[in-house]
Amino acid sequence: MPVIGWSKDFLVGIKDIDENHRYLMRLLNETYDGYVLGIVTDLFNLDELFQCLTDCFVYEEILMIGTSYCSYLAHKASHELFKINFLEMYNNNNTNEFIDILMFFNNWVYRHIRDADSKFGDFLRAESLGLVQKPRYSSSAAREYLGA
Ligand SMILES: [Fe+2]
Ligand SMILES: [Fe+2]
Repeated sequence: MPVIGWSKDFLVGIKDIDENHRYLMRLLNETYDGYVLGIVTDLFNLDELFQCLTDCFVYEEILMIGTSYCSYLAHKASHELFKINFLEMYNNNNTNEFIDILMFFNNWVYRHIRDADSKFGDFLRAESLGLVQKPRYSSSAAREYLGA
């Protein structure tokens, strides 16, 4: 039984990002199923999930920089905060159960894709339609304005 079901709510609308997310969710569900069946209980099994998610982060961040995404810094901060919180739980594994860490991971992924990644998808679609207005100033104009 999947812990996180794929639905169109998770579609960001950008093919590569959606494929990355789909793969991540499949891995998440396999790990959860493994836990339910008593096969997967070792924290080591969370390494692959963490690696898969951080690969998704890198892919998104490169795309954000390349498209001058206006919310890049906030989005990146969200990725970084997740990594800090996850690693803290992971490294304190004597107080955190495998399933608690897996659920933390699951809940964060669910919310992040639906709330933050989807906004980036909207931005990319608008940008591809020429609807995003880029700043018109240049650095030399800014320096001139500032009298520098
Ligand atoms: Fe993502
Ligand atoms: Fe993201």
